Amino acid sequence: MTQDSNTARAILKANDRGGYTVPNGRVYPFQWNWDSAFVALGFDTFDRDRAWTEIETLFRAQWPDGFVPHIVFWQEDDGYFPGPGVWDSGRTPPTSGITQPPVAATVVRTLWDSAAAAGQSEHYRPRAQALFDRLLGWHRWFAEHRDANRSGVVVAMHPWETGRDNSPEWDVPGVPIDVSNVGEYTRRDTGHLDAKMRPTKLEYDRYLALVQFGRAAGWDHAAIARSNPFRVADVGMSMILLRANRDLLALAQALGRNGDEIARWIADAEAGIHILWDAERRTWCSRDLLTGRHSGYVTSASFLSFYAGLRDPERDEAMMAHFDRIAERVRYMVPSLDPDDTGFQMIRYWRGPVWAVVNWMIGQGLAEAGHEARAKRVRSDTLALIQGSGFYEAFNPLDGSGSGGDDFSWTAAIALAWQTPS
Ligand code: GLC
Repeated sequence: MTQDSNTARAILKANDRGGYTVPNGRVYPFQWNWDSAFVALGFDTFDRDRAWTEIETLFRAQWPDGFVPHIVFWQEDDGYFPGPGVWDSGRTPPTSGITQPPVAATVVRTLWDSAAAAGQSEHYRPRAQALFDRLLGWHRWFAEHRDANRSGVVVAMHPWETGRDNSPEWDVPGVPIDVSNVGEYTRRDTGHLDAKMRPTKLEYDRYLALVQFGRAAGWDHAAIARSNPFRVADVGMSMILLRANRDLLALAQALGRNGDEIARWIADAEAGIHILWDAERRTWCSRDLLTGRHSGYVTSASFLSFYAGLRDPERDEAMMAHFDRIAERVRYMVPSLDPDDTGFQMIRYWRGPVWAVVNWMIGQGLAEAGHEARAKRVRSDTLALIQGSGFYEAFNPLDGSGSGGDDFSWTAAIALAWQTPS
């Protein structure tokens, strides 16, 4: 075990709040949905039981209709805004009213395979069965509320749902959001971190206007889906859900469960996801459903088509050409925005910096698709960033310096998952 692995474990342990892990104690002092999924991958390398508990704790906050919130406020902490009072979801425990990218099924499949490889499948089978039901309920919620027309994509109702908060993909779709009644508020993020690394005031106003809209709708997700001022088919969530459904189907088979419904979701996605291909820019990208317009941006999420299991020689080649062009421009792959784009900003959050968790998904997808050299570059760049700068939230793709919070849980988890021979 390397020194880095020791530090990574120590970070996870320090951020452990008993059954769940905070992304970062100061900036994000609650449980975040997709953070916890990735964190479980890290725990699985040294404490299998704790890995399962991380996901189980998240699903304890699942709503009766299957929805799984993006934040669970297990304890009070005024270090973050907007807190439970602003969301006002009326739940116990208090939660936000929006969701996040559904990576959990993929992670549970990984945990299950790793338990099976260690000869512990019988021990973990009851927990896997229980989680399977929870995951199925969540994916059904996605099918009902975020893809009612069975078009095979995931509609995001808030930039925070995509996990890529201030991606330029949301700039144009965000324009119609009325921010005139947002009122005064005090951000906490810019009190912890350099404002140059964070979303702008206009972006925050839009985030809050959408929270206020959802709250006024009583977090009725059917009503929100009909009338939300922001409805964008997100390329990241769509690829991640397709992948997650493939993994959920594999779990169904391993656990002797019926997978017909899941197979139908996969078929819908395989038939419909092409609406996220921008033929002009020759890239996968998000699409505003209110206008039908593609974002046209090449982001790190564009490269998740491999992870989703899509195989189309012509499109794959176009994506690989983007990859190779970008790889010539930056020292560290994969920047969250194309560096040839005029909006590229090397330290501003999802407009440039490299994120270890996205790299993990991209690297996994490229390796599975047989693009070994590129997969290796993504993995070794990620580990080099961590070795050179520490376990930051994100990294400058040009000089490798850390951006955002330090001692970040999911970065530590990816280091463990990628360093530990499986
Ligand atoms: C930021 C990120 C989001 C993440 C959260 C907690 O909001 O954009 O993806 O889940 O922080 O780490």
